[in-house]
Amino acid sequence: MARGAREGGGGIGVGLAPDACPRFASNTAAFLGHPGESHPITLRTPVPDAIREHPTASYQAKPEDVHRVLLLYSGGLDTSVMLKWIQDQYRAEVVALTVNLGQPGEDYDVIRGKALDLGAVECHVVDAREEFAREYVVRAIKANAIYGRGYPLFTALGRPLIAAKAVEYARRTGCDTVAHGCTGKGNDQVRIEATVATLAPELKVIAPVRSWRMGREEEIAYAREHRILVKGGTEVAPYSIDDNLWGRSSEGRWIEDLDRAPEDDVFQLVTRPEEAPDEAEVVTVEFERGVPVGLNGERLPLVELIERAGEIGARHGVGIVDHIEDRIVGLKVRDIYEVPAATILLLAHRELEALVGTIHQHEVKPTLDQKWAYLVYAGLWWEPLRTDLDAFMDAANEQVTGTVGVRLYKGSARVVTRSSPNAVYDAQLASFAQSGGLFSQEASPGFIELWSLQSRMAWRLRNERTGGD
Ligand code: ARG
Repeated sequence: MARGAREGGGGIGVGLAPDACPRFASNTAAFLGHPGESHPITLRTPVPDAIREHPTASYQAKPEDVHRVLLLYSGGLDTSVMLKWIQDQYRAEVVALTVNLGQPGEDYDVIRGKALDLGAVECHVVDAREEFAREYVVRAIKANAIYGRGYPLFTALGRPLIAAKAVEYARRTGCDTVAHGCTGKGNDQVRIEATVATLAPELKVIAPVRSWRMGREEEIAYAREHRILVKGGTEVAPYSIDDNLWGRSSEGRWIEDLDRAPEDDVFQLVTRPEEAPDEAEVVTVEFERGVPVGLNGERLPLVELIERAGEIGARHGVGIVDHIEDRIVGLKVRDIYEVPAATILLLAHRELEALVGTIHQHEVKPTLDQKWAYLVYAGLWWEPLRTDLDAFMDAANEQVTGTVGVRLYKGSARVVTRSSPNAVYDAQLASFAQSGGLFSQEASPGFIELWSLQSRMAWRLRNERTGGD
């Protein structure tokens, strides 16, 4: 059974929270409960004793540590309930922080208003799109970052930045504690808490959704009691959504049924391939030193370029990934990803690398790419190995300049053209006709003789041995 949005995923509640999904946001928003109506349900879910007495980790807050809390706030149900609950349970002040990483369809004025209505003493909205694109997405592109068989890590890239902003704002606003909306089942708790514990050992963390043991029903009752606006119908638990500039994920509901093919309503970003245009389109991507700088011949700022690539890909049904994934906390889960921008840009980047690198570079870099992706997936953004690897990625990308054409058609993306001033390629050498005097084909037999020498000797030895039997 799909047990509700937050159980499906990390449920941080930053970005587009389940109940802030545009699908539900349109006209179904309603106050649950009526003004003046009194409710029999009075929830005072206690701070669990385990947390009160013996925090498992040094950075976990004991109730007496908590006076002013920086809450990573999305405007969704979980973090809205948290905003009230923290004030209730800890008698603490709450400063709300919402980080814009380019999640589409968000109204930040509404989110700010909601936070203040719920009693936040301050609410900050930070536009971190440029920083996210430059410092996180570009590094991922240089490392061709994919986890598993198709997850371009958009959430994993976003969390360390969101948590770093939480640290920055907690310090700036005099908070002693950071609160987030993750469950105890996902990767996001790892990414956020590892970041806070690394960057700010003086700060404590609380994760109420992980510890309060409220079910969805109870949570909605709490929302009702406190007149918290719940968007969307409450009968069906929504998908657990997370998104930013680099992609969108859905978890929960039927997605947990591995046997079920995706239902159409899950796709809110990418056009269903069968409904995509009948005409193919070629999009050209220009790179300088591994960084995308232009699209279809037009130079664009990074954020706009990523958004534009995403729009074009989405129109052609490109970037749907139905992914079985091994979470770092041990669970195996299924995610539906919509990653049109990442599909196009990573494909084009990889192609250009293939053109400008040598056979030896191509042997090693994918291994390091994979290690990079794993570290980031696993919440170790601040691990020195990641920066060591980035130094390698930067060096390896020095030559990655040029243009790649990608043909998009009903869900597929295929490279059709490529060019680079740094291509380790000579059309004359490669052609079957002339070698252009650069090397003599007469040299090849000598090479073959030495290249195969050990293999031939070994073959002979084995054959002589078995030959006699
Ligand atoms: N499975 C992906 C990851 O671990 C996406 C998680 C999305 N997070 C969420 N709270 N819905 O990075």
